[in-house]
Formats: sequence, structure tokens, C-alpha cells
Amino acid sequence: MIRIAVLVSGGGTNLQALIDNCKSGFIQGKIVLVISSRPQAYALKRAEKENIHTKVIEKKHYGNEKEYSDAIQREIRAKKVDLICLAGFLVKLSPNIIKTYESRIMNIHPALLPSFGGKGMYGIKVHEEVLKRGQKYSGCSVHLVDEEYDHGPVILQKKVPVKKDDTPQILAERILKEEHKLYPQAVRMFALGKIKQISKRKS
Ligand code: GRF
Repeated sequence: MIRIAVLVSGGGTNLQALIDNCKSGFIQGKIVLVISSRPQAYALKRAEKENIHTKVIEKKHYGNEKEYSDAIQREIRAKKVDLICLAGFLVKLSPNIIKTYESRIMNIHPALLPSFGGKGMYGIKVHEEVLKRGQKYSGCSVHLVDEEYDHGPVILQKKVPVKKDDTPQILAERILKEEHKLYPQAVRMFALGKIKQISKRKS
């Protein structure tokens, strides 16, 4: 059983998918900690409902990125976490924590990386850009986190069609449904020890 921390900032539907798949046994793991960068994130309610330990850590209370990440790292270390899952977490982590947990931090991104990723590419902006560029397909990617935004090795991807009358919201919903399947699959792979080869792949 791996011990998982999930970092969130918003609604937490991906957190919910991870909770459900741990409970069903699809993921051989347990979510032992949920950290939110925002006190009002609905994701916190989802965690509390499942009696998962939660912690709000707001950026504004820390001098810089490193101090903020150190505070997160203290909580994670105290809970003896094996895997950190970023699920709609909107703050950049410092190189320090990324190094300490190398190949043990995952993120989900609502596009087919390396396209439509990087700084400022989050939330509805991603889907607006995909539609603006007339893409026929978009999708979602689960990847390991390195020091650049949306850049580390991809673990899994799912392609999703873009339809003629799509609005950014409609496309976001279609992709989100797939995210809820893809993220648990990637975490399951980690729990089964299948991620190491991916992180060692040379670019
Ligand atoms: C998802 O689209 C995810 O890909 C992105 O942020 C969104 C989070 O949604 N990183 P939720 O909070 O899991 O519902």
C-alpha cells in the first residue's frame, strides 16, 4: 500500500476519482493527506467527508516559493508519503521539493503535452487555445513533475476529439471525464512499481 498526498486548489474532481479508486482497491494505496493552497477549495470538503487529513497552506503566508514548498514538504514528510499527486494545484513547487521527491510527483494536465502546456496554460485557457488553433484532437496527460511547467516525462495520455460546436467549457468537461480514468491508472502503475522505467528514459 503506497501512501499518497494530493495537492489541490479547486473543485477536486480528480481528487475524488483518486479517493474512489483507492477505496475500490484499483489503486493499491491510501490518500493520507490533502493539501490545499486555497481555504475555500471544495476539494477540502471531499477529503473531510472521507476523514482524510487536510491542511490549508496559503502562498501569501510565506516569503517566497522555497519557504512555501518547505512548509508543504514538512507536512508530507510527517505523513511518510510515497507519492505526491498534483490535482489542479495552481502553485509552482520549488526545485528543492522536486529534487527530494524526484520521480515521485505526478501532475495531470488537460491537453496532449507537450502541446498546450507551460506557464499560464491552465484551466479554461488551455481549451480556449485548443479551439482557437482549430485542433481536431485534444486530451489529457499524466506526467512526472520536473522543474519546468508541464515538462516532465509523460506517463499516460488519452486523446479526446474536438467537436465542431465545442465551447471551451464543453471540451473541458469531455476531457475531465477522461482525466478521472487516466489519473487513477497512472497512480495504479506507480503503486505497482511500473513508473521507474519511464522516469529513467532519456530525452
Ligand atoms: C483539471 O482539468 C486538471 O487537468 C487541471 O486542473 C483541473 C482540476 O480539476 N490540472 P479538479 O479540481 O480535479 O476538478
